[in-house]
Amino acid sequence: MTIVFFALSGLDVLDALDAVDKPSLVEWIYSLQVVPTEDESNLWRCGFRGSSHIGVPYNTSTGPGSPHPYDSGHVAMTYTGLACLIILGDDLSRVNKKACLAGLKSLQLEDGSFYAVPEGSENDMRFVYCAACVCYMLDDWSGIDCKKAVDYIRRSMSYDSGIGQGAGLESHGGSTFCAIATLCLMGKLEEMFSERELNRIRRWCILRQQDGFHGRPNKPVDTCYSFWVGATLELLDVFQYTNFEKNRNYILSTQDSLVGGFAKWPDSHPDPLHTYFGICGLSLMGEAGLRRVHPALNVSDRALQCLQQLHQTWREGCT
Ligand SMILES: *[C@@H]1O[C@H](CO)[C@@H](O)[C@H](O)[C@H]1NC(C)=O
Ligand SMILES: *[C@@H]1O[C@H](CO)[C@@H](O)[C@H](O)[C@H]1NC(C)=O
Repeated sequence: MTIVFFALSGLDVLDALDAVDKPSLVEWIYSLQVVPTEDESNLWRCGFRGSSHIGVPYNTSTGPGSPHPYDSGHVAMTYTGLACLIILGDDLSRVNKKACLAGLKSLQLEDGSFYAVPEGSENDMRFVYCAACVCYMLDDWSGIDCKKAVDYIRRSMSYDSGIGQGAGLESHGGSTFCAIATLCLMGKLEEMFSERELNRIRRWCILRQQDGFHGRPNKPVDTCYSFWVGATLELLDVFQYTNFEKNRNYILSTQDSLVGGFAKWPDSHPDPLHTYFGICGLSLMGEAGLRRVHPALNVSDRALQCLQQLHQTWREGCT
């Protein structure tokens, strides 16, 4: 599912979505929804799974199922699954929102962080971010205890004013993105950090630029941080103070001239993740021919407009 997301959202930013068979992709995504049983005893396991890896038969029905005993959603798959449906222009009418939100709720720990799967897994900032995206897209924050999540983010700020995966962990460009984007999606950025603290976060992020960006001090630059750190700087309103030309040249130097796509480094192989984030990194700088990327949600502005229209329709439906 995440790889489909990189491909679809990348094509969307390239304005090339016409190349995909949208109806069959929508069906494929719905076939990966973990649906509740008749008695709803598995609600806490619902969401989207990433593939058919455990052998659940292809079925796009949203009626009550008889689930595989080990079947459950994964928060990154629920996030990217919903994002893909929005990119494809689906109205989310077959998403079982109640089940997705119940599944999300069961993933949050006492400390505010999230597991990826209900059986337990690593728990950190990545999954807090995925959970925030799910609630934002479903326009319903009941799946998260926001107070606890926000406290978790606060405690993850490190001595150097970057943000780590959790309290006491090293500041990192990826977790800093996840933390800042989560606060933006919740509308709590200014409430959580003082102007002085925000300026320190801005400084930490700006110092990540070498020519492209790296994710931590003393590490080599890598294409994907042009998105993680670039988008964070954009959310903090200071991206314009970075050197676009150097960043652009670095990203383009990692493009494979034979097969296309971007790699993390100039001499390595391209892959879907770095290709997507290379395109997003260029889009943040206003590269000609690319759609703008919404920096917090990591989908194109076009897809965001679809989402906003959908939310409008839901709200009108309620009144
Ligand atoms: C798909 O699921 C529905 C409801 O969960 C069930 O009635 C149907 O038999 C399933 N179809 C297949 C082909 O398994
Ligand atoms: C973007 O999407 C990728 C794919 O799921 C994910 O790894 C990353 O956390 C997302 N963050 C955003 C918005 O860019």
